[in-house]
Amino acid sequence: MPDDQSSRPSSRYDLLFEPLAIGPVTAKNRFYQVPHCNGGGYRDPSAVAEMRRVKSEGGWGVIFTEQVEIHQTSEISPFIELRLWEDKDMPMMAKMAEAMKSHDALAGIELAYSGINGPNLYTKEVPLAATGGPILTFTSDPVSARSLEKAEIRDVRRWYVNAAKRARDCGYDLICLYGAHGFGIIQHFLSRTTNKRSDEYGGSLENRSRFMREVITDIREAVGDTMGVTVRLSLDEAFDDLSFSNSELRDCIEMHGDLPDLWDLAHGTWEDCSGTSRFKDEGAQEDLIRGIKNLTSKPVVGVGRFTSPDAMVRQIKSGILDFIGAARPSIADPFLPKKIKEGRFDDIRECIGCNICVTGDMTMSISRCTQNPTFMEEWRKGWHPENKPAKGESQSVLVIGSGPAGLEAARMLGGRGYDVALAEAKNTLGGRIAQERLLPNLSAWGRVMDYRLGQIEPMANVSIYRDSNLTAEDVISFGFQHICIATGSIWRRDGTARAHLKPIPISAAMPLYTPDDIMAGDFPSDLLTQKHVLIYDDDHYYMGGVMAELLREKGCEVTLITPANCVSEWTHNTLEQGFIQARLIDKGINLRCSNRVNAVADDHVTLACVYSGKTSELAANAVVMVTARDGDDALWQGVKSRQAEWQDAGIRSVKLIGDAAAPAPIAWATYAGHRYAMELDAPDHGDEPCFRREVTALED
Ligand SMILES: Cc1cc2nc3c(=O)[nH]c(=O)nc-3n(C[C@H](O)[C@H](O)[C@H](O)COP(=O)(O)O)c2cc1C
Ligand code: SF4
Repeated sequence: MPDDQSSRPSSRYDLLFEPLAIGPVTAKNRFYQVPHCNGGGYRDPSAVAEMRRVKSEGGWGVIFTEQVEIHQTSEISPFIELRLWEDKDMPMMAKMAEAMKSHDALAGIELAYSGINGPNLYTKEVPLAATGGPILTFTSDPVSARSLEKAEIRDVRRWYVNAAKRARDCGYDLICLYGAHGFGIIQHFLSRTTNKRSDEYGGSLENRSRFMREVITDIREAVGDTMGVTVRLSLDEAFDDLSFSNSELRDCIEMHGDLPDLWDLAHGTWEDCSGTSRFKDEGAQEDLIRGIKNLTSKPVVGVGRFTSPDAMVRQIKSGILDFIGAARPSIADPFLPKKIKEGRFDDIRECIGCNICVTGDMTMSISRCTQNPTFMEEWRKGWHPENKPAKGESQSVLVIGSGPAGLEAARMLGGRGYDVALAEAKNTLGGRIAQERLLPNLSAWGRVMDYRLGQIEPMANVSIYRDSNLTAEDVISFGFQHICIATGSIWRRDGTARAHLKPIPISAAMPLYTPDDIMAGDFPSDLLTQKHVLIYDDDHYYMGGVMAELLREKGCEVTLITPANCVSEWTHNTLEQGFIQARLIDKGINLRCSNRVNAVADDHVTLACVYSGKTSELAANAVVMVTARDGDDALWQGVKSRQAEWQDAGIRSVKLIGDAAAPAPIAWATYAGHRYAMELDAPDHGDEPCFRREVTALED
């Protein structure tokens, strides 16, 4: 049933809930979930469908699929997206459309032909592109595409039409033609960087936009009176001097102003578009998009990690956007529109801009979200981002540790109705978040604790105890039925991690620190000026780079050493690596990649090249070890050693969770806390998987 808007008092956010037509269909409000993949795609279609169904329930006016490959001659394996190659793919895609429309959202499908970006590793077809050349993938696959013959351009147009008709028959309301982020052939034709053709599809902007015009016209002829046809273009390709620039985009929109039913605009590269909060603020694309609405009578959607209702209203009121596009804000909080509509602003679970969601796609696993542990578990585990099942038969839980795992466990346990005591050894709550949010450009990460504390504090059945450094004796004598130990982790100082699986020789004369020391302010001020500090990063995520930035800002000369070939290597998966390396270079931080630290002497370290083994020495005044973390499980060990006393003490279970059990990124900790709370009093899965799995059906 359509939402009844008349019963609500008017508010300054009403604007966001005004319906708007997109060609022949009408969106019920301005919340537009732009396409986003999820690491599940064709392998986990039911999980993807349920994830989108929950967004429909959460009030989004428009919900899109991720990119959907339209033909077997263009696919982007190993990445796992959706496919609409043949009729066989339709039941899966129809299930998805039905889920999206379950609560009156328009269902959109993003059609992609990947051209110069599709290596065809799975189908073994020769890739076809606007202009041939090496395939432009993240992984530099050693494969080339060949230029499309003119007759083949007609084939590709027909494949688009076939996919559009199938999409219509699956129940979709909107089509988006992917031409952004360098990933879709529409963009490859538009850009002089990837289009070197000398026929009527190359050269002038009119010629380069011919393919886009033809495809839109073909699709509209085939399905236009039933579906809105939109196009997603890059706001600024920013690759080289031939790139499809922001001014060319504006010329293109002016030239074809009324061609699509909506212009969906996104920054040039995926890295730029899905920038993390470490590098991009909310609304960062505004300068590139402002004024474009004046060039067309059709609605414009743009993105910018929008989580603030006021920022959204401003985008619309000031005539920059018609729709608020959102990928990550919709992942972190699928109920964002509903919460704004109901004025429940404190309940909004704001995206922290960490891009852990992207890593699920980049690692072809399945996506996680730091803020929303239920993401992609809606079907697999039956989790829901808002619902909290009533508690089971037991009553009381002691949660020890108020980091991300402990806070999430307490939030969910409290919501389920348990009597919860949350004990924190320190005076401040938040565990690692309370410290890491103070590091350079990580303040948005603080939302992990702010949201959870905001939810927990009003709960009468959750008591919070600060300065409670509990002993095993305390835990056993308190009388709680369940004990959840989430005591976090501690950075190692002995060099053990990946390059060295055992401690390295370290002179006691060398001042040596860990990130824990630095975050606690335990770093002598005389080291902060003009002193050479070496950071040894064998962790490979953000901490090494952040420590380097921090100490450089404080005045140290800094050298970052890592066994990897680049700094913060794992951040390729969060789309940050290039930005991090550029920032460190820009700040004058010395980089020594492909080297391990073999020994720390009184006044220098010995390095060894990871390839040749050739050693060298580097003088230093101090060393910071960013290597591995150990779970802080001392309390767990103490309680476990007294297991014989548990029954008499009324203790039914004791569990170690989060970093204390196995250190990992924050998203793993919130997931662990959520899982603990959801599984309390639930039947044991025994040897079976604790989630549902889509199993490939066998064919003859
Ligand atoms: C996990 C993830 C997957 C994405 N996959 C796609 C995709 O399949 N197609 C697409 O056009 N954009 C994709 N994007 C880009 C988003 O649509 C969006 O433009 C970008 O994230 C900026 O919007 P946001 O700040 O609201 O996240 C993806 C973004 C994320 C975070
Ligand atoms: S993983 Fe991080 S960036 Fe992605 S939606 Fe969740 S909080 Fe936002």
